[in-house]
Amino acid sequence: MSDPRPIGFFDSGLGGLTVLYSIRERFPSENFIYLGDTARLPYGTKSPETIRRYTEQCIRALLKFDVKAIVVACNSASTAILNSRGTEREIDSPVPLYNVIEPGAEVAIRTSTSKRIGVLGTRATVASNAYARAIEQREPNAIVFQQPAPLLVPLVEEGWESDPLTNLVIYRYLAPLMSQTIDTLILGCTHYPALREGIAKVAGSSIELVDSAMAIAQMLEKDFSQEEKLKIHTTDTSVKGRLTLYATDASPAMDQTAKRLMKDDHLDTFQGFDL
Ligand code: DGL
Repeated sequence: MSDPRPIGFFDSGLGGLTVLYSIRERFPSENFIYLGDTARLPYGTKSPETIRRYTEQCIRALLKFDVKAIVVACNSASTAILNSRGTEREIDSPVPLYNVIEPGAEVAIRTSTSKRIGVLGTRATVASNAYARAIEQREPNAIVFQQPAPLLVPLVEEGWESDPLTNLVIYRYLAPLMSQTIDTLILGCTHYPALREGIAKVAGSSIELVDSAMAIAQMLEKDFSQEEKLKIHTTDTSVKGRLTLYATDASPAMDQTAKRLMKDDHLDTFQGFDL
């Protein structure tokens, strides 16, 4: 059985396109709807209550498109779902609701030998402790070291991925984690995969990098293989899926950034979306 309904993606802005890129590479026939809450970006500096409220609104908006699953690609927003899991604040969703924290934590545990794991994220992600909880629940022997790295998001937005200044900032943020002799580092923010090269250079070969975009792609692959969880659009690999882009504040400059992050010059333009 196939399911042509799109998969919904949500991020605070455009960074979630790095996650969508990994998933679209693996599942090119799927239809996708992306919603970036650009009008209220950034989430990583906001309180848990605000992030949760925004996240709920965006999930409700995506559900109106009759999606078959929702991927919360934003790490900061993912913490809002996880913090509430199993409590009265749980977010209701009639379709599978994916976050990027759990798959990232699972891959990090599998990757790490010493179980000394570092996390780089926004202030909100680090303050929520969501990665540390997800790791320690699954691997009680793990020790998690976290570092907020707020300056990295604007540097990527500026297109300064390879700028010497960015490398210095990366060094400043990584130094405290490296002094804890971690062997694995989670890139716990949508924008950091764009800095992978610079981070790898500073971290050196003794630290493995875990990209949550790859981790969530692997999780979807597993769920597609168990049809009762998620059904693919079509087995016909010649079919190219449709990607529709929405943003709560759309501007032509965003279309260029989207093309860069998705490595696709033929993307449709963003359409404005009113929550
Ligand atoms: N998308 C956010 C995240 O992954 C980074 C940008 C923001 O702070 O909104 O945490």
